[in-house]
Amino acid sequence: MTQRAATRCLLTLFLAGLAQAAGAARAQEPQTAGILRPSDRSVLQSGALQIIARTGEIWLDGKPIRQPQDRGGRQALSVSAPAGKHELLWKHAGGFQKIEFFVASGPTETPPGWKVYKEHPPQAECAACHAGEKDFRKSSIAETCFTCHEQKAFPAAHSHNSEVLAECVLCHDPHGSAERFHLRMTRETACKQCHG
Ligand code: HEC
Ligand code: HEC
Ligand code: HEC
Ligand code: HEC
Repeated sequence: MTQRAATRCLLTLFLAGLAQAAGAARAQEPQTAGILRPSDRSVLQSGALQIIARTGEIWLDGKPIRQPQDRGGRQALSVSAPAGKHELLWKHAGGFQKIEFFVASGPTETPPGWKVYKEHPPQAECAACHAGEKDFRKSSIAETCFTCHEQKAFPAAHSHNSEVLAECVLCHDPHGSAERFHLRMTRETACKQCHG
């Protein structure tokens, strides 16, 4: 078990304990992915950052951020954080998520193993993909991506046509990531999802 998995497991156990103590009858929700930007243990080059999150409370370093820029149920919060390590907590009735990120400025030493986070281009505003509360600009996610990306270039980069890999978000994080090509995981793991 990796250290992160172990931590998550402990947190889940802790929550389960709390639920039991409260005599809660409903099943305990696992940790939810509420924070969509930045990613856990990533390094940001600037302290001026945009957090993307699902509806819920956001706490930065133990202080609540009250800045409800709600766009159709989706939050985009602009905050600034000084150089160094920070903790972001997202809370919702159904669960919580805690992540860490690091703001590097100048020749700061970054935590070993943490990677630089890259936003999927900022010029791609929310409405470049999202339309309304639940919908995307086009009838599918893939089609939405192909409003900007060349569908003809797809097979060369993917060893497949775009029908086999139509579920772009299986591998890519549309908001950004700390892997090359905005992948959610390493390239190797991405392909292994089907080629085990
Ligand atoms: C390049 C396209 C793209 C852009 C730009 C984009 N998103 Fe998304 N977003 C997606 C996709 C695709 C999903 C679905 C992800 C999945 O299913 O894993 C998603 C999911 C979400 C979700 C979680 C699901 C939901 O709809 O409740 C939130 C919240 C969200 N986006 C907020 C934002 C905000 C806020 C912005 C602007 C700051 C933004 N997104 C910009 C593509 C985009
Ligand atoms: C509004 C236009 C727009 C939309 C919609 C869009 N992108 Fe992008 N995307 C860009 C731009 C601009 C870049 C940066 C330029 C480049 O590297 O091609 C980029 C870069 C990327 C890259 C990295 C390319 C590289 O060479 O590093 C990936 C991967 C990517 N986008 C995937 C997606 C996926 C998946 C979707 C759909 C969820 C999507 N994009 C939707 C505009 C868009
Ligand atoms: C199986 C995982 C996977 C899926 C699913 C996937 N991609 Fe990719 N994508 C990758 C990998 C890996 C790369 C990097 C290729 C390389 O190393 O050259 C990549 C590269 C890209 C690039 C940059 C290279 C280029 O052609 O410009 C874009 C844009 C992109 N993907 C868009 C998409 C879109 C749009 C979808 C959905 C229709 C999608 N991807 C589905 C894994 C995936
Ligand atoms: C969604 C499931 C899925 C993912 C993810 C996936 N593949 Fe495949 N792949 C298939 C299927 C199904 C076939 C057999 C049919 C075909 O050729 O389209 C295949 C066949 C192949 C082949 C032909 C040789 C063989 O093993 O049969 C290559 C090469 C390949 N995939 C490479 C990749 C690479 C590289 C990635 C990551 C970018 C990837 N695949 C990700 C489903 C997937």
